[in-house]
Amino acid sequence: MHHAANSIVSKKLREAREQTDHLLEMVRPEAFYDRPIAERHRLVFYAGHLEAFDWNMICRRHLGLESFHPEFDQLFEFGIDPGPDNLPTDHASDWPLLSHIDQYRLRTREAVDRALETADDPWVFSLALEHRLMHAETLTYLLHRLPHARKVRKVDALDYKREPALRSVEIPEGDATLGRRRQSSEQFGWDNEFSEEPVRTPGFSIDVHNVTNRQFLEFVVAGGYEERSLWTDTAWEWVQKNGIRHPNFWRTADGAWMYETMFSTIPLPLSWPVYVSHAEADAYARWRGRALPTEAQYHRAAFGTLEGTERDFPWGDAAPAAEVHGNFDAIRWNPQPVGSYSAGDSFFGVADLMSNGWEWTSTVFAPLRGFLPFRLYPGYSSNFFDGNHYVLKGASPRTSTELLRRSFRNWFQPHYSNVYAKFRCVEN
Ligand SMILES: [Fe+2]
Repeated sequence: MHHAANSIVSKKLREAREQTDHLLEMVRPEAFYDRPIAERHRLVFYAGHLEAFDWNMICRRHLGLESFHPEFDQLFEFGIDPGPDNLPTDHASDWPLLSHIDQYRLRTREAVDRALETADDPWVFSLALEHRLMHAETLTYLLHRLPHARKVRKVDALDYKREPALRSVEIPEGDATLGRRRQSSEQFGWDNEFSEEPVRTPGFSIDVHNVTNRQFLEFVVAGGYEERSLWTDTAWEWVQKNGIRHPNFWRTADGAWMYETMFSTIPLPLSWPVYVSHAEADAYARWRGRALPTEAQYHRAAFGTLEGTERDFPWGDAAPAAEVHGNFDAIRWNPQPVGSYSAGDSFFGVADLMSNGWEWTSTVFAPLRGFLPFRLYPGYSSNFFDGNHYVLKGASPRTSTELLRRSFRNWFQPHYSNVYAKFRCVEN
């Protein structure tokens, strides 16, 4: 019985490796030691990190094997998420040669594959698989900030079609079930997804569609970035200190608004959801006299029904189908116009809740009732229960289908603006 489960994980792991390999192959050799995002490691780190993680979790901690390269196990073990005042200061020359990392990668993969053939329980391999898939997405954020000339161009479709009008829908009072129950036989889940926490949620109204670049442009033109009253103290300090006047994905050229996609600079696509930091989403919501949804409100809008039962996905209980239910699973490099996938609408008719970009919530990332840190990886979530990370829900164009589930929670700092993260407003 366990052999069938192992071969499924083995196949998924092979596909995930292909995906991360393809992303790393997009980096031109001269760019490998670049640091496209100041708060993250140089790209070279990611060439070693995925295998170091697999080795450390599976071979070292889980199986107790003797290391063949302790130095790399440690060097490539952890990513970073510093505040603005302690950015990394390492030099390109501090990092090893790629050829040495390639050898480490091959040898680790052999060891992991051998271990998986005889494993009794593929749980730790699922952990490695999901870790890799999440990095496939965050590596994409890094590549997005790499100048066009320093990466290999891929085909990316651009679609600008229709734009639905701004409207909202009433969600009646009801229960939202955050998290999930602990059951041994279940699908893999990260520690922060446990345990189940029902939240009684009063009625509210919510935007049917995400805030678009066009709508956010109104805020920019109206002077939203210069209006002190729209920002919290820390957000205002961030805006002033960094001279922020528009979303990170936007550019200006000869008085025209442009947009920076992965591979080109294009006229601002007005129908796409705006990708912004939490601080900018929050300021926009305040400007409209509204608020960002709480995690529970997101759940109500996405999974709730009038009868009080909850769906597995916004569209029902059917397994997610990319390009039917939404824009996810790395089919596209870009967002689609809001409201492009009506088959993915929730019971209450809210669009794109698990598609086209993560959704910011107003909820600070914190443990659910009954949280227990993973024994193999105790800091995975608990290192971020610091009051300075907010929960995001849903999926972006670059989120693997494997990660689409009701209980999945993503989190980022409020001023981190490299995420494919969109938002919508609620009225309480
Ligand atoms: Fe990682």
